[in-house]
Amino acid sequence: MCSPPSLIFSALLLVSFIQSHSGLTSHSLRHHGSATHATPGDGNSRPELVVRLHEEVVLACDSNRVLAWKHNGKSVQHSAAYRVTANTLRIMKVTNQDEGPWQCEELDAKSRVLVATRAVWIVVMEIPKGAFLSFDGKRASGWLNMKEGAPLKGRCLMDGGKPAPTAYDWWLESPDGEQESLANFSTGADLAIDKILRDMHNGTIICSISHVALDNPMNTSAKVNITYSPSFAISRIPGFGFPLREGLAVSLKCDVDSNPPSRPIWMKDDGDPPVEQSPDGYLNFSSISREHIGWYKCSAEYDSSTYASSGLFINVRYEEVFTKQPPRQVEVALGGGVTLDCGDSGVSTTGPNCWGRLSGNRLEAVGAGPQLRLDSVLYQEAGAYRCVAPEKPDPLVAERKAMLTPPQDIELVVTGQPVVYPIRRNLTAVGGSQLSLSVEFCANPEATHAFWLTPTVALRPGQEGGGYIAQNVTEGDSAHCRRAALTIPGVYLEHAGEYLFVVRSLRGMADGMVLLNVTRGASYYSTKRAWSNSHSKTVVVVPKPPPSIEDNVQDEPRPEVTTEAELVEAAAGAGCAGAAAGQLLLLLLASVVSM
Ligand SMILES: *[C@@H]1O[C@H](CO)[C@@H](O)[C@H](O)[C@H]1NC(C)=O
Ligand SMILES: *[C@@H]1O[C@H](CO)[C@@H](O)[C@H](O)[C@H]1NC(C)=O
Ligand SMILES: *[C@@H]1O[C@H](CO)[C@@H](O)[C@H](O)[C@H]1NC(C)=O
Ligand SMILES: *[C@@H]1O[C@H](CO)[C@@H](O)[C@H](O)[C@H]1NC(C)=O
Ligand SMILES: *[C@@H]1O[C@H](CO)[C@@H](O)[C@H](O)[C@H]1NC(C)=O
Ligand SMILES: *[C@@H]1O[C@H](CO)[C@@H](O)[C@H](O)[C@H]1NC(C)=O
Ligand SMILES: *[C@@H]1O[C@H](CO)[C@@H](O)[C@H](O)[C@H]1NC(C)=O
Ligand SMILES: *[C@@H]1O[C@H](CO)[C@@H](O)[C@H](O)[C@H]1NC(C)=O
Repeated sequence: MCSPPSLIFSALLLVSFIQSHSGLTSHSLRHHGSATHATPGDGNSRPELVVRLHEEVVLACDSNRVLAWKHNGKSVQHSAAYRVTANTLRIMKVTNQDEGPWQCEELDAKSRVLVATRAVWIVVMEIPKGAFLSFDGKRASGWLNMKEGAPLKGRCLMDGGKPAPTAYDWWLESPDGEQESLANFSTGADLAIDKILRDMHNGTIICSISHVALDNPMNTSAKVNITYSPSFAISRIPGFGFPLREGLAVSLKCDVDSNPPSRPIWMKDDGDPPVEQSPDGYLNFSSISREHIGWYKCSAEYDSSTYASSGLFINVRYEEVFTKQPPRQVEVALGGGVTLDCGDSGVSTTGPNCWGRLSGNRLEAVGAGPQLRLDSVLYQEAGAYRCVAPEKPDPLVAERKAMLTPPQDIELVVTGQPVVYPIRRNLTAVGGSQLSLSVEFCANPEATHAFWLTPTVALRPGQEGGGYIAQNVTEGDSAHCRRAALTIPGVYLEHAGEYLFVVRSLRGMADGMVLLNVTRGASYYSTKRAWSNSHSKTVVVVPKPPPSIEDNVQDEPRPEVTTEAELVEAAAGAGCAGAAAGQLLLLLLASVVSM
């Protein structure tokens, strides 16, 4: 042994009285440099004295009686190897032959009858050669392969070594090096786990053996390889809870945990995903859109079965108002004909549909779809036309379609020579009253010149003179039309006659004539005088909007202008849901806007 034997002194003091027949019971011991030891695990512990080879050992038997020493049942005599004194036995240099039970027999001094026996077992310490684990009776080498849920039964075994180990400690070391005690699953050299779980996979089971001959425990271990079915972890960039808007880059990631590993397969609504997935489980949308809304799940093939994650709903928010495309333009010559088709405006031509004309925020029905024929086109018919499908069988589908291809308005452009439409052609005014003559004039290209020719003067709009005020031009009913009015603050006889409104554009010239007849009124002369006196500036004129006609002016049939009402009527007549068509279209327009 490593230490000089002379310095090692082991002694056993057998103090207690032991009944002759019982032989092996408890005793206390005083001992230097080594330890008594009770073999763990076997119930009948015996007193052991563990000694190192070549040590000097003293066995002491404190008694007044006559003593006899025995080893392995044979008497031991005083010799060079064994020094026997009154109540001690000294083993000068312990060898392996000295192992076994040593007894000190107490004899009655007179009768030499055996009164009592005390005993101790000498064990010569031996360093264990090694340790190993066995599982289900088989010695473990490298990996321990198991199925999740199976029971684990292991045993820690020592190769050589004396005496038996003082302790067995069981540990589970995770792949990242953390150790957890398995004390609750072990009894001495035995380890028993009812159900092995996947979180033990790749872990290391360690048995740590403490032995008197060792300064540090001796370890033996086995790595655990547990086969288990897939479990899924799904993550998202941006994270869950962050609302997804159209156009955002979104990344879904599926991690499948199984042993042996299996590949993640993305599915959308039980079909293939809308974008390609990468082999490592990414489903990357470079720009997510409303078409990607749906249920997603991740699946994996394992042991010839398909396993799947729970469904994940991906919602995509999108702008409620669709961006309207600029209207398409259709140009038609004044007086010409044109056909508008619903298909051109992006609306299905199969279902029932209606044509409407946008007037401000209102949509007025102008005819049934899918084709709208316009003949002898007037300037007043220019503007935006919209084909509307009144029926929506599946609101969701219709909404989505509306979002994807918003109906496109068709802008009808009318071109031609200028046209003048007098609002009333024959007027009869009572002398002394105020009067306005009005015309609507249309031109595309725009008018370059416009002026009134009265019986006495010529005035451009905005000018006044000769008892006339030519009002500034105002907006008309359609894009190409304007209104002009000539105000006579005080009408008298001389004003009667022909009034012309003349318009010129690059395409030509046009005039409109208004005939004015004046009848004598009560204040005729005084009015004339008043007017004459205050000829230039003193008369305050309140310009009136052209269509409002003085009460004292006779009404006449209006010229051949197709009005909104007539358009609505025309549409109704063409079978667009009767008189309610206009209203229906208005409702539809409202619902389209609010989607
Ligand atoms: C062992 O079991 C006891 C009682 O169930 C528990 O309190 C203790 O934390 C367990 N120890 C380990 C290491 O799991
Ligand atoms: C288990 O260990 C092996 C090899 O040490 C390694 O390739 C594998 O990724 C590990 N698996 C887990 C789930 O830690
Ligand atoms: C054996 O394991 C124990 C506990 O994990 C550790 O303290 C000891 O250092 C290990 N001994 C050797 C020789 O690795
Ligand atoms: C672990 O077990 C799996 C499934 O039985 C097997 O495919 C794999 O090769 C094993 N790994 C090791 C390191 O033994
Ligand atoms: C998908 O997106 C993730 C995260 O943005 C990125 O790490 C990964 O490389 C992408 N994969 C592919 C195939 O584009
Ligand atoms: C206007 O009056 C003239 C002359 O009195 C007449 O010839 C013409 O028919 C009238 N026009 C209309 C539309 O009534
Ligand atoms: C016409 O408009 C101009 C400028 O807007 C204004 O100065 C003028 O008074 C107007 N004329 C009439 C008759 O309203
Ligand atoms: C003007 O009106 C009067 C009375 O109604 C009528 O007698 C006369 O012929 C009219 N003059 C013209 C030019 O229409």
